Amino acid sequence: MARITSTLSKNPLSTAKVDALVVGVGAAGRTLVLAPGAGDVDKAFKKRLLGALTAVGATGKAGEVTKIATLGATTAPMLVAVGLGDRPAKGDRWSTETLRRAIGAATRQLDGSRRIATSLALANDGSPADVAAVVEGALLGGYRFGRYRSTTKPSVDSVAVLVDNPRDKAVKAAYDRGRAIADAVALCRDLVNTTPADLYPEVLAQAAVDACGGAGLQVEVMDEEALRREGFGGVLGVGQGSTHPPRVARITYSSGRGAKARVHLVGKGITFDSGGLALKPAQSMEWMKSDMGGAAAVLSTMTAIATLKPDVDIVAWIACAENMPSGTAIRPSDVLTIKGGKTVEVLNPDAEGRLVMADCIAAAGTEKPDYIVDVATLTGAQLVALGSRVYGVMANDDALRDSLIEAAGVAGEQGWPMPLPPELRKSLDSDVADIANIGERNGGMLTAGLFLQEFVPDGAKWAHLDVAGPAFNSGEPHGYTPKGGTGVPVRTLVEWLTSLGA
Ligand code: BES
Ligand code: MN
Ligand code: ZN
Repeated sequence: MARITSTLSKNPLSTAKVDALVVGVGAAGRTLVLAPGAGDVDKAFKKRLLGALTAVGATGKAGEVTKIATLGATTAPMLVAVGLGDRPAKGDRWSTETLRRAIGAATRQLDGSRRIATSLALANDGSPADVAAVVEGALLGGYRFGRYRSTTKPSVDSVAVLVDNPRDKAVKAAYDRGRAIADAVALCRDLVNTTPADLYPEVLAQAAVDACGGAGLQVEVMDEEALRREGFGGVLGVGQGSTHPPRVARITYSSGRGAKARVHLVGKGITFDSGGLALKPAQSMEWMKSDMGGAAAVLSTMTAIATLKPDVDIVAWIACAENMPSGTAIRPSDVLTIKGGKTVEVLNPDAEGRLVMADCIAAAGTEKPDYIVDVATLTGAQLVALGSRVYGVMANDDALRDSLIEAAGVAGEQGWPMPLPPELRKSLDSDVADIANIGERNGGMLTAGLFLQEFVPDGAKWAHLDVAGPAFNSGEPHGYTPKGGTGVPVRTLVEWLTSLGA
């Protein structure tokens, strides 16, 4: 999809040649207040900006978007005031996430305006973190997926972010980082939103080649023959019912310096999950094009890594298969041999994600990394437990788990710690194989995590992110998050990996 262009600018908003100006407003009790950065526009309005906004109902509450005509007061014909919520107490600040959501709510709802300029990065003090948040939020909220529309409405296509000094090194670096992250999220959303007829395993693997190879990373793709040779029995078993053969892509980033850690990422890339012979009801299948959200996030993260170049060596495994029912599909009671030799009795072909993940976690393990982080739209139970915006984080190491959750918070995503209760493990016992692919139904997110843990090598710190709900927004749009693919957890992964290398 066409990307939105962006710049840092110090040109005053009042004379900016754009279609709309976006400024922040807050609430001080029941009074509307202007956020810093809007002063020049207020002056152009002869200090009547607050009066004009109040007259049409603006209250300053977070996420509120108020549009007024400027009637010649400014060069731009429209002014958009976005609510930031209660004005922070003296010495306090609006959070980066408040700014990110506010500008995102504006760009998401600005159909008809192509060029915008905003002062939101100055709402506190123009700190680099605020600049990054504003460019990110603007691009994420302005994201559109038009691939399947015969007509598209105009939407935001260029964003000027007002700062005091666009040449300041830290500001420029923060801006570049926000830009790189937003581009990675947009790529992830595009992949998730693409229909499975156009995005099957070969295409997803090729997307890794195009996006990551194009960014200078090394990418290898294993076809069925290579997968057979290398013993990826889980990927092959899940993929065997589809006319589209499975693939595994392996992406390598080498820091080229003394790396602070060696990390392997693994992403679930089920390009469509019909349930296989355990066919899902039609309604449950509606979102199942998003079952490659983990893989899309991992591969998109690698594109941002190629730009940000942290001091960490990273390998990413993209496990691609389509889960379909057919005469060649895997049957309940079939036994698969996962990479490394462990056997799995497939009692339910709809518990397919853990089978492809097991292969790649085991493959990652053979390379003795310090950390393995896997990302998967793994269970409906995640949605039951944590809802559609908060993903579950399970790990064999508390510090690793907490560092991922902290990274999520910094980045504006939400992860929550979940346990791996050892007593649930026996529910995965099989009568014929080393393990079965389903266990106790209650706590299904946790049993899935325990299943994956079986394939983690001794010595590796491992974390599992179940993003079944958060990867895809099937509800109403909010903040900078549209319907459809969200890009979760790209921002967490980039934050975590770059802080590991810092
Ligand atoms: N892809 C699904 C999980 C899922 C559900 C993702 C809803 C997004 C939204 C996964 O492959 C699956 O089918 N899981 C089963 C496991 C069960 C058979 C043990 C589930 O959660 O119902
Ligand atoms: Mn399934
Ligand atoms: Zn699935």
